[in-house]
Amino acid sequence: MIANTDLIQQLERRYATKQFDTEKKIPEDDLNTLLESLRLSPSSFGLQGRWFVVVESSDLRAQLRPHSRDQAQVTDASHLIVLCRSLDMWEEQIQLFINKIAEIREIPADSLDGYKGMMNGFVEGMSDQEITHRLTKQVYLALWFLLSSCAHLQIDACPLEWFDSKKYDEILWLEQERLSSCVVVPVGYRHADDAHAALAKVRFDKQKVIIRK
Ligand SMILES: Cc1cc2nc3c(=O)[nH]c(=O)nc-3n(C[C@H](O)[C@H](O)[C@H](O)COP(=O)(O)O)c2cc1C
Repeated sequence: MIANTDLIQQLERRYATKQFDTEKKIPEDDLNTLLESLRLSPSSFGLQGRWFVVVESSDLRAQLRPHSRDQAQVTDASHLIVLCRSLDMWEEQIQLFINKIAEIREIPADSLDGYKGMMNGFVEGMSDQEITHRLTKQVYLALWFLLSSCAHLQIDACPLEWFDSKKYDEILWLEQERLSSCVVVPVGYRHADDAHAALAKVRFDKQKVIIRK
C-alpha cells in the first residue's frame, strides 16, 4: 500500500510537462499499465462510452501538431494518447455491455433485462447534446485516472485541450470509428531543460478550497 506522504509527493512531483525528452520512450510494460488504468476508469452505468487512441506514428503526430497550437509535446513525448467519446453507440453498446456482464459474471443475459430497459430508458430521455456532455465528463474522469497513474509511475504528462478536435478526428480517422476526440495527453519523460519542472506549484490554500461541515 502506498503511504499518504508518498501519494502527495507523487502528486506534487507531477506537472504539466512542456518539454519532453525525445530520446526517452516509455517501456511497453509501463505503457500497458497506463492503458490499463484508462480501461479501469469508471463510467456511468459502467457503459464505457469512451475510447483511447494511442498515437506513436511520428508522421501522424507531425500532422497533428499544427492543429494543437504548435505545442511541441504533441511530437516530442514518447506517446500521444487521445481520449475520445463515442458518437453513437447507445442501443448496440448497451447490448454489448449486457453480454459482457453475463459472460464475466456467468449469468444469463436475459436476467439483466430490467437493467437493460432502465439504461435504454435513461438514454432515450436525453438529447444528443446531453449525451455528449455526459460522455465528455466521463472522458475527463478517465483523464484523471491516467494522470494519477502517470504520477504514480513517475511518467510525465500534459493534458492538452488546446487542439482542434475536428482536425484530430479527420487525421486519425476517428469519425469512421464513430469517435470524437475530447482531450489529448502526451506522455513520456520531462526534458532536463524544462524550466517548468522547477516552478513552485500554485494552488489556493486548503482553508480556501476545502470546506468541511
Ligand atoms: C483540461 C486541461 C487542459 C489543459 N490544456 C493545456 C494545454 O493545451 N496546453 C498546456 O500547456 N497545458 C494545458 N493544461 C495544463 C494546465 O495549464 C496545468 O495543469 C495547470 O496550469 C496546473 O499546473 P500543473 O499541472 O503543472 O500543476 C491543461 C490542463 C487541464 C486540466
